Amino acid sequence: MRKIALITSGGDAPGMNACVRAVVKTAKSHNIEVIGIEDGYQGMIEGRGREMTYNDVNNIIQLGGTILGTARSEEFRTPEGRQKAIANLKKWQVDGLVVIGGDGSFAGAQTLSREIDLPIIGVPGTIDNDIFGTDHTIGYDTALNTVVSAVDKIRDTASSHHRIFFVEVMGRDAGFIALNSGIASGADDVLIPEEWTDIDALVNTIKESSKGRRSSIIIVSEGDDAGGAKEIMTKVKPFLDGYDLRCSILGHIQRGGSPSVLDRILATRMGYEAVNCLIRGESGYMIGAKGEEMVKISLERSIKEHAKPTPDKLEMMHRLKTR
Ligand code: F6P
Repeated sequence: MRKIALITSGGDAPGMNACVRAVVKTAKSHNIEVIGIEDGYQGMIEGRGREMTYNDVNNIIQLGGTILGTARSEEFRTPEGRQKAIANLKKWQVDGLVVIGGDGSFAGAQTLSREIDLPIIGVPGTIDNDIFGTDHTIGYDTALNTVVSAVDKIRDTASSHHRIFFVEVMGRDAGFIALNSGIASGADDVLIPEEWTDIDALVNTIKESSKGRRSSIIIVSEGDDAGGAKEIMTKVKPFLDGYDLRCSILGHIQRGGSPSVLDRILATRMGYEAVNCLIRGESGYMIGAKGEEMVKISLERSIKEHAKPTPDKLEMMHRLKTR
């Protein structure tokens, strides 16, 4: 192993830079060169890679986003696009590839590995926490903290004005951000894609929980089956005469910001382990963290299976509703 390539791909996540730093520094400690590719698979297609130096990764552990840039490349989905990417990987003469991203990025890695004989290791980086095989993904903890601090602020105005707020959070297919920010902010209800949303029950919860104070916080995952915060608000409005309803969509604010301590440490452990895997000659795995232990699962499994909130936690969330 003399040279490896590194990309960040898909939605950016706080902590990706900490991981880039760990990959570069660990590789260099073994005299392995790192080619940092800009903008994920798109930069791979366009040949935008350069050798990473210690200077490149100095003072980046605290930065949100990704210094390498990222993209959701449509061209990489085509055989022609991938052939261009493969030609560049061969030109750079790399002996391995580290992909930091979500399941879409891993699916790209999996397809690539069928077309080029190159060891590939995935590192889960997404605020959604929807990757199977790890307790947490890089960026999730920071995003959760961002959401909780936003909801705390919204609660101030909700209670001052006696309003019901529907706060929409990210998570296209997964309710982790909604569920856990809801638990941490003491929300009155949480609507997530993993559960069917009962509008009548929601109306009842709002009526019960706002008794005496006439304010409530409902967290809505953007992927909820009944719609986003705006749609849910429209659906319950006819049944809540006299209530002052508002909606707030947190959006991309959730993806930015300096990574939390937990994300910095997780990202560093994962980046370090990714390089160790390549050195050991392993390929086709995603690095995960289960408690204090580093684990690896096949990329194939990490793509096929999806992390889901545990039934215990869902039950707890339901029990904590005002009835
Ligand atoms: O995958 C992370 C994520 O932030 C999702 O929660 C969200 O649905 C999506 O990315 C938004 O993607 P984009 O920024 O490309 O619109």
